[in-house]
Amino acid sequence: MSERVYFFDTTLRDGEQTPGVNLNQEEKVEIALRLEKLGIDVIEAGFAAASPGDAQAVRAVAQAVTKPRVVSLARANKNDIDAVVEALKGIDNVGIHVFIATSPIHREKKLGMTKEQVVAKAVESVKYAAQFFDHIEFSCEDATRTEWDFLCEVAEKVIEAGATVLNMPDTVGYTTPEEYGNMFKYIKENTKGIENVILSCHCHDDLGLAVSNSIAAVQAGVKQVEGCINGIGERAGNAAIEEVAALLSTRKDYYQKETGIVLKEIAKTSKLVSRLTGISVPPNKAVVGSNAFAHASGIHQDGVIKDRATYEIMTPESVGFVDTKIVLGKLSGRNALKKRYEELGYTLSDEQLTEVFKRYKELTDRKKEIFDEDIIALLEDKSVDLNKAKYIFKNVSLQAMEDNKGYRASVIITVNSNNAEIEGTGEGNGPIDAIYKAIDQGLNMELELIDYKIKSVTKGKDSIGEVYVKVKNGDSFYQGRAINVDTIFASASAYIDAINRYLNIKENQPANVN
Ligand code: KIV
Ligand code: ZN
Repeated sequence: MSERVYFFDTTLRDGEQTPGVNLNQEEKVEIALRLEKLGIDVIEAGFAAASPGDAQAVRAVAQAVTKPRVVSLARANKNDIDAVVEALKGIDNVGIHVFIATSPIHREKKLGMTKEQVVAKAVESVKYAAQFFDHIEFSCEDATRTEWDFLCEVAEKVIEAGATVLNMPDTVGYTTPEEYGNMFKYIKENTKGIENVILSCHCHDDLGLAVSNSIAAVQAGVKQVEGCINGIGERAGNAAIEEVAALLSTRKDYYQKETGIVLKEIAKTSKLVSRLTGISVPPNKAVVGSNAFAHASGIHQDGVIKDRATYEIMTPESVGFVDTKIVLGKLSGRNALKKRYEELGYTLSDEQLTEVFKRYKELTDRKKEIFDEDIIALLEDKSVDLNKAKYIFKNVSLQAMEDNKGYRASVIITVNSNNAEIEGTGEGNGPIDAIYKAIDQGLNMELELIDYKIKSVTKGKDSIGEVYVKVKNGDSFYQGRAINVDTIFASASAYIDAINRYLNIKENQPANVN
């Protein structure tokens, strides 16, 4: 019988460390619920010690999902472990992920610790964590640049101390498939007690080898693969979960492995993560790129018409891409909307349906044809988290100045707590420049605009526009997002969304870990 490979998703932790990505709690829960549908075995929901917001989000995720185990990252110290204990108190099927760097460069330059001190810290932390958790993953950060004998020594000691999963990350994306596979074989042959733990791999993509390295690890007997949806994450990102899963499924004849991944959920998961993080999926990206199943050349098209298998090793349907349809109209009611969501694989609570139906009706007043993507965008738009938003964009009036000299904007922003209105004015070269200056003036703050992107949700001149902005304050980046058929309104709301996120996490800047 084929052996099972487990998937550990760290989109909400390593993925969220992508510069400019900051997901609010509601968004994290939404992604986690989708990861559950995808069949992920373990969700790393965050880094509880990083901030109270992170800790709350870890707890909210652990409470929201039932099947996957939920873990939080912790450095090898009591404070971090206590933060995880507190965040996950009273919740079943949880665990902790403790790490310390083991490579010479990290020991000497980052930690200023000897090998003996690193081992002592690792053991002490795992022993402490074992008082609270049955499931303890331990990671040797920068394992692939660590002496192999030292990896075995650390592994042996943390297993003795109570670790149940042992992860050997390629933290800086430095290793190669052959070397990584050999490293795991060496560890398996030279570590006492290794048969009692699950071995895990965690690969970064700095040299474009994260998926290949993960697969090499699996071939060397590793049972758990860590990664992020769409391959997002620190620097060049992490191994793309959907690629590893599609590979193990498409080449089951070769690898002979089972997974719990429901391939049909891949497209939806990828789109949700892209939408909520603001990180677009490159068109040529394997498995989930918009061109992944497009056949442009005549020869290929001819082959595909005769038999799809000539140029397709998997079908778009198998990973959940569906043909888009015009779905509903102005007169469609609540039930029709609910039914269409169900056909698309989304189950809505009554409360969600009421909220989304209101927005759907507003949309039908402004847009003639409503596509599947429109209603998905409405459902997934969590940019205005009303509980947390300090400001809500209300209105803009915009005037073109004579002789093409630019634009003049006046904006009204509502203060969420008391409905007070703030006005601002600004002039700029273009409409967005003018509106953003008016917002800055009204709120008396100035964040640097690093990126602004607008994309249509569907075809058609009246499509919903989806706007992403990235702003910077000091060394930190914040994203903002909004959708609206009025793209000027969406642009202003996205900027306000970024400001709200900045204000929300200003006091609790997350610590940096990779
Ligand atoms: O890449 C890495 O080493 C990590 C650890 C914290 C597991 O993300
Ligand atoms: Zn990592």
